[in-house]
Amino acid sequence: MNPTPETPGPTAETPGVPPETAPATAPETDGDTDAEARRAASFERQRRLRQEPRFPGGPAADPAGSHHERRIRSFQPRRSRVTTGQEDALQRLWPTWGLDIDGRGVLDLPTLFDGLPVVLEIGFGMGEATAQMAADDPVTGILAVDVHTPGQGNLLSLAERAGLSNVRVANGDAIILLREMLEPDALDGLRVFFPDPWPKKRHHKRRLIQPEFLDLVAQRLKPGAFVHCATDWEPYAEQMLEVLTAHPLFENTREDGGYTPRPAFRPLTRFEGQGLDKGHVVHDVLFTRR
Ligand SMILES: C[S@@+](CC[C@H](N)C(=O)[O-])C[C@H]1O[C@@H](n2cnc3c(N)ncnc32)[C@H](O)[C@@H]1O
Repeated sequence: MNPTPETPGPTAETPGVPPETAPATAPETDGDTDAEARRAASFERQRRLRQEPRFPGGPAADPAGSHHERRIRSFQPRRSRVTTGQEDALQRLWPTWGLDIDGRGVLDLPTLFDGLPVVLEIGFGMGEATAQMAADDPVTGILAVDVHTPGQGNLLSLAERAGLSNVRVANGDAIILLREMLEPDALDGLRVFFPDPWPKKRHHKRRLIQPEFLDLVAQRLKPGAFVHCATDWEPYAEQMLEVLTAHPLFENTREDGGYTPRPAFRPLTRFEGQGLDKGHVVHDVLFTRR
């Protein structure tokens, strides 16, 4: 995979410092007109990004903004260009198929998915693989979560075009979803395909697949449910295999304790394609919850 750029953009928060620390009111001025203008523009950008829904009726800019917590995040919040088609999908389809991860209530998955077994996918990107897997397996509900607005619009649009009714698009941090919005034993599976590899050592703490994350996942998965991860970043593949193998509540589906050959049911993802173009080797790991 092409490692995610790690230079924080203008909107990225400092690790461990929550976005809610943004000023609630415009900063005071000191008489320097240029500096004032810059501060005002920066304040306006922050206010728009953090507080306002970008599309009427669409996903909120910072759905769990009420959570004043200090935590390192596995993603880099950024404002990305949304195409007209994606914007149209967000406005028309979000009220029916989308949900904000605001941490304010536990989801009723049986009602949301008409009683289907539910698989959580964290970080669907542009959603092509998600839509494909949902179409291939219409008797499984897919709760697809990402913070990436263009991808949310894209997935809604793909799902509509394919006539899918087994996909729900969740906007926000998957950790808050897992921790506060899902019941114990709620999920039949978890997919994490090509998560941000955070290649620099000082950023390894941002990687999603870690022991504490697995503790939380283990509480939300039913016994026998699966965890399927894939990455083209070799050191992250080793970390995935190591922490899953070491966790007492997960069991490798491979008797040899190694990686799983890429299953035919997993479509090529966008990031995977980019990694393969660079000559990277892809590894899948497939475990079950004991
Ligand atoms: C490198 S991309 C891979 C996208 C897609 N799976 C693919 O293979 O093309 C990782 C995605 O995970 C999302 N992500 C990372 N941490 C997340 C979190 N805690 N909650 C929701 N989405 C997250 C990012 O926004 C990004 O879109």
